Amino acid sequence: MTIDILPDTRESPEGNPDYRDSGLVFDTAFVIGSATASYQIEGAVTADGRGPSIWDTFSATPGAIVNGDTGEVADDHYNRLEDDLDLMADLGLEAYRFSIAWPRIQPLGSGAANEAGLEFYSRLVDGLLDRGIRPIATLYHWDLPQALEDAGGWTNRETAYRFAEYARLVATELGDRVQVWTTLNEPWCSAFLGYGSGAHAPGRTSGADALAAMHHLNLAHGLAVQVLREVVPNAEVSVTLNFHVLRGDDESSPQAIRRIDALANRSFTGPMLAGGYPADLIADTAEVTDWSFVHAGDAAIIHQPLDFLGVNYYSTARVRMWNGTSPRENADGHKDVGGSPWPGSLDVEFLTQDGPFTAMGWNIAPDGLEELLVSLAEQFPGLPLMITENGAAFDDEVVGEGDGGLDGGVGGARVHDAERLDYLRRHFTAAHRAIGRGVDLRGYLVWSLLDNFEWGYGYSKRFGIVHVDYETQQRTVKDSGRWLSKLIRSHTIPE
Ligand code: FCB
Repeated sequence: MTIDILPDTRESPEGNPDYRDSGLVFDTAFVIGSATASYQIEGAVTADGRGPSIWDTFSATPGAIVNGDTGEVADDHYNRLEDDLDLMADLGLEAYRFSIAWPRIQPLGSGAANEAGLEFYSRLVDGLLDRGIRPIATLYHWDLPQALEDAGGWTNRETAYRFAEYARLVATELGDRVQVWTTLNEPWCSAFLGYGSGAHAPGRTSGADALAAMHHLNLAHGLAVQVLREVVPNAEVSVTLNFHVLRGDDESSPQAIRRIDALANRSFTGPMLAGGYPADLIADTAEVTDWSFVHAGDAAIIHQPLDFLGVNYYSTARVRMWNGTSPRENADGHKDVGGSPWPGSLDVEFLTQDGPFTAMGWNIAPDGLEELLVSLAEQFPGLPLMITENGAAFDDEVVGEGDGGLDGGVGGARVHDAERLDYLRRHFTAAHRAIGRGVDLRGYLVWSLLDNFEWGYGYSKRFGIVHVDYETQQRTVKDSGRWLSKLIRSHTIPE
C-alpha cells in the first residue's frame, strides 16, 4: 500500500525562527481586543463619591512613584468615556477588559453601594454592548479602598469577606449584561509587591505579611467565584495570573526555578486549581510564617471550577542560587525599592538576560509565551486559556499634527512605533503556534488600549496602542493600533 503525502509547500513549515510570521489566521471565535485598569486610566479620583484607594495614598507618598506622578487625572477616561468608547469601536475591538474601582462602589470598603459609582460602569457596559464590544470585567486590579488597608488590608482575613460583598453589589448591577468576569488581576503583585517588596501600594515590606495577603487574596477569589455563580446565570468566571516563565543558568538553577515557581505561580494555581498549597512552598517559607492564616475549610472555598484562566505574559526570568560571594543580581523585572518579593527564597539570584529589551528593561521572548501556554494546557487539561495582557512599553514620538484617529487622514498625527508592532506580531505568532500545538486559547487582549499610569513608573512608561498627550488628553492611534485593527478585521496577522 502506498500513502500519498502532499508536499508541504510552505517556505518554512515551522514558521520563522524569530516568530515574525504574517498571514496566520485566527478562528472567528478567537476574541481579539485590549485591556486597561481603573486606576491607570480613569482619573477623577474624588468624583461622584469615590473614596480613596491605597494607590491614591501610595502615589502621594514622596519617592514612591517616578516623577511623583499620581492617578489623579491619568487619561481622564472617567470624563471622556463616550469618546474612548468610540475609539474602541473605530479600532474594531471585539472585547474590552476593564476593571472596576472598588472605592467607587464602596468608598469606605463596606456597606451599601454608591449608586453613582455603579452608574459609571453601567454606562461603560452599555456603551460597549451598543458598539458590539464584549465587556470583560475585572473586579480587582489593585485599587483597594484605603479604609480596608487601615484595618489591615489583605493581611486581614476580613478583607476577603468584604471583597465578596463588593462582588455581589457589582454582579447584581452588571450581571444582566456582563457575562465574562475576572476576580483578581495578578494577585501575586498585590501580595508580594504590595506587602513584600514595597514597590506597589500599600508599600509594606514584610515577607510574613506578603504570604498572609496571598492567602487572603486566594480566599477572596474563591468567595467571589461563589457569588458570581449565584448572582450571574451563565457567568464565565476566571482569574488573571502573571506567570513567571523561568529559565536556568547553571546546576543550581533547578532549585531556584522550583522555589520561584512555587512563590510566583503555584502559590495561586495550587489552591485555586489543584485544591491546596504546594508542600515545597510551605517548607520554603517555614522560617517566615507558620501559615496559621490558613483555616479549616479554606481549601474548598478557594478551589472553585473556572471557565477559563487569564494569562498575563510580558517576558521571562533567568534564575540560579546565589553563591554568597559575587554581587547578587536582582533583575527580576520588578522595581527594586529595598524589600523583597521572594520571602524564604532571598538567596535566589535573578540574572540579567539577553536582549532585546523593552523600555521596562524586560527581555523580549515570544518563545516564552508559546512555552507557557503549552505548559499550562498540559498542567490543567480541559481549562481554556485567554491572554488577558500582553504588550510592550517603548518611548514613542508623535509626528505630524491634528487628528490622531484611525482615519486621521494624510498629515494627521502619527506614532511610528515599529518596535511595539514587532513585539505584538511576534507574540501573536507565538499564540498561534500554541493553538497549533493543541492549546485551547480563546482570545488575546493587548495591554494596553491607552498609554496610562504605569504604577511605580508613573507616566514615564507607555504601553498604549493609542498615544495619550497628558497635557491635552489628545489620543493618537499608534501604528501598532492600526496594525491591530487590521488584524482584528481580517483575523489574520497582517504583513
Ligand atoms: C501588569 C499589570 C498591568 C500593567 C502591565 C504592564 O503587571 O497588570 O496593570 O501595569 O503589567
